Amino acid sequence: MRTIKVLDKEFETFITKDKIQQAIAAVAEKMNNDLKDKDPIFLAILNGSFLFAADLMKKVTIESEITFIKVASYHGGISTTGIVKNLIGIDKPISGRTVVILEDIVDTGITLEKIVAELTPMNPKEILTATMLYKPEAYTKDIKIDYIGLVVPNAFLLGYGLDYNGKGRNLEDIYVLKNNH
Ligand code: IMP
Repeated sequence: MRTIKVLDKEFETFITKDKIQQAIAAVAEKMNNDLKDKDPIFLAILNGSFLFAADLMKKVTIESEITFIKVASYHGGISTTGIVKNLIGIDKPISGRTVVILEDIVDTGITLEKIVAELTPMNPKEILTATMLYKPEAYTKDIKIDYIGLVVPNAFLLGYGLDYNGKGRNLEDIYVLKNNH
């Protein structure tokens, strides 16, 4: 177990990079089967999904496109504030397309619900959802999550795209907040 200090908090190793990559390979394989002939457009949600999106897309072999969009929902460090802003960055029509949302982590689901609500009036053919990490104990919404990398407990995680006050997104492994403080 490796402990690291980020700003004022200590984190310890939780999910290794090998396990992350295995989980992504499994998601990519499923997408390659399910979505072939659908020419999906992947919408990666910045900032958190940048590593997941990059690693996933290297393993997606079907015809597809990717674009990056942004929504802000997490301010205040280690607790969800529920503040959600609008989507920015959709640079091409998604009408009639199969859209696959790529999230870093689904916690309460507030962000995912907001994104789906913003995309629906743009008349995509279907909206599918994919997340690297899913916290079922925190999830409060009904939207089906079609692709899940790894199910995780309701703890504060860091690394592989996830930040603590802007730090730690570049860590290759995922860490958990030590002793919950
Ligand atoms: P939700 O709207 O509650 O589902 O939260 C989604 C967003 O909160 C994610 O895209 C992350 O940016 C952030 N988030 C949720 N849980 C964590 C965590 O454990 N560590 C870091 N960020 C998190």
